[in-house]
Amino acid sequence: MLTAKLPRVHIAHLPTPLEALSRLTAQLGGPELWIKRDDQTGLATGGNKARKLEFLVADALAQEGGCDTLITCGAAQSNHARQTAAAAARFGLACWLVLRGEPPPQLTGNLLLDHLLGAEIAWAGNRPLSDQAAQVAARLQTEGRRPYIIPYGGSNPVGAAGYVAAMEELLAQCEARRLHFDHIVLASSSGGTQAGLMVAARALRHTGQIVGISVDLRSETLRCTLSELATATAKLLGLAESFTPQDCYVVDDYLGGGYGVVGELERAAILTLARAEGILLDPVYTGRAFGGMLDMIRRGTFGRGERVLFWHTGGTTGIFGYADQLVAVQDD
Ligand SMILES: Cc1ncc(COP(=O)(O)O)c(C=O)c1O
Repeated sequence: MLTAKLPRVHIAHLPTPLEALSRLTAQLGGPELWIKRDDQTGLATGGNKARKLEFLVADALAQEGGCDTLITCGAAQSNHARQTAAAAARFGLACWLVLRGEPPPQLTGNLLLDHLLGAEIAWAGNRPLSDQAAQVAARLQTEGRRPYIIPYGGSNPVGAAGYVAAMEELLAQCEARRLHFDHIVLASSSGGTQAGLMVAARALRHTGQIVGISVDLRSETLRCTLSELATATAKLLGLAESFTPQDCYVVDDYLGGGYGVVGELERAAILTLARAEGILLDPVYTGRAFGGMLDMIRRGTFGRGERVLFWHTGGTTGIFGYADQLVAVQDD
């Protein structure tokens, strides 16, 4: 295993299922569609952060003197924050979440779960999240605590190792079922998921294309982040691989109204998968990425004879934070 030398705790439900989307494939008449169910990783309902947290929490616990508090940051409806809160609870650690914006009138979706999981929340307004997280850490240290900061999205080389291991898991499933995917499509934002997949794909000579559909950043920006993170992740694992922005495939055609703004693309994607296969997407990440993939199928980017995997990265809890924007569709 490429990640064998890194400390790891086992908190995710793995391997996640690899399923054929047969009804949707027949409906669309395009490429053969499959889905990797990382919405089923467990840890307070599942999602991609469970895999990253297996390595991040182990690293926190391995710090000199240990760690007694996890700190991370994100949007108000951050899936990463919710899974970090769950991981902290699981290991008897305190948890501080630095969230963008102001406290909303109601606790819904991920925020409700953060509360149930016992996390403390610091609202950052529009101040830079990482500065605020460092301030919380400094204050806790003066109180004699031992905080460990997990960066935005859990996207550093330690977190990305979770998706190196995930790609190995997928390739083992492919081998057992004699499958090859021409394209793997996923939602990409802070980059740890895509960077981890890229590192393992390169190391294990997987030739399929890894297509990140950006949910918030322009392609140029995200490709720089991805190449740096993938190179640093390879280095952490002792692999002599390096990546340039040209090695990273990012599509930024589906940014719509910006991060977290649910438009017709996301709503239609959520309905399409829910009604064809009984699988729920989230409004911010997977809804946007799946909508982008459907559009690329319509445009013929993915050909009829090809096999395409959608990597479901979770976030379904977020649906409950966006009921108003999704209800219009329910009335259709
Ligand atoms: C459900 C979901 N999908 C995808 C992503 C993007 O993953 P990454 O930040 O590793 O690019 C996130 C990040 O928060 C997420 O919550």
